Amino acid sequence: MATIISNRRVAEGIYVMHAKGRFEAKAGQFFMVRGWENYPLLSRPLSVYDQDEQGVKFLYKVAGEGTERLARMKAGDEVTLLGPLGNGFPAVHGRTALVGGGIGIAPLYYTARQLEQADLYLGFSAEVYEEHEFRSLRHPVEIDLGGIVLDRVDFDAYDTIFVCGPEPMLRAAQMKSAMSSGRANVYVSLENRMACGIGACLVCSVGCENGRKKACSDGPVFRAEEVVL
Ligand code: FES
Repeated sequence: MATIISNRRVAEGIYVMHAKGRFEAKAGQFFMVRGWENYPLLSRPLSVYDQDEQGVKFLYKVAGEGTERLARMKAGDEVTLLGPLGNGFPAVHGRTALVGGGIGIAPLYYTARQLEQADLYLGFSAEVYEEHEFRSLRHPVEIDLGGIVLDRVDFDAYDTIFVCGPEPMLRAAQMKSAMSSGRANVYVSLENRMACGIGACLVCSVGCENGRKKACSDGPVFRAEEVVL
């Protein structure tokens, strides 16, 4: 159990929860989070947004009953955290771009905080959130509102690219990667539906070049050319 330090609304249906504890999560990992006993049955997979000496932060979107319940929780309430889980982002080399769409920006903040150099591209459909936090990292940040954030990224200008966002965006990243010179190692982080989070149920199964893999335990980060989306 972890005590909630704060749980604030940052945009319509978007919240940041800060929960107490020492976890030593890697950038790109996630936790299975629940703030209830029995129903809804499943915990919610939330990626690590940030981590500090007090605990871990999650930037999350209200997208169903579980996250609605999380959004109603207050400082002092208790959440159950299982994690950190998943592989996280690999080590980068060379010039790096971090590209996020919507709530897919969540794992990029802590990732960017670990890096000496990174160019950030953040895309939003209706409302920009956490811009101040990302700009405070002192990496270049490009914000796209209502457009296609990937259009801003020259894949040939980078050695490492991390992409996180909805599936159409990840497919577009795969296509861009395939049509580029191949200079960049491109990785996508999948937001698959998860149930157990620990590789036991196959709910998050994803087709890969060498058969099926589990997004929770083999991922959520995969090489872009490896996964079938
Ligand atoms: Fe159960 Fe991945 S969520 S195997």
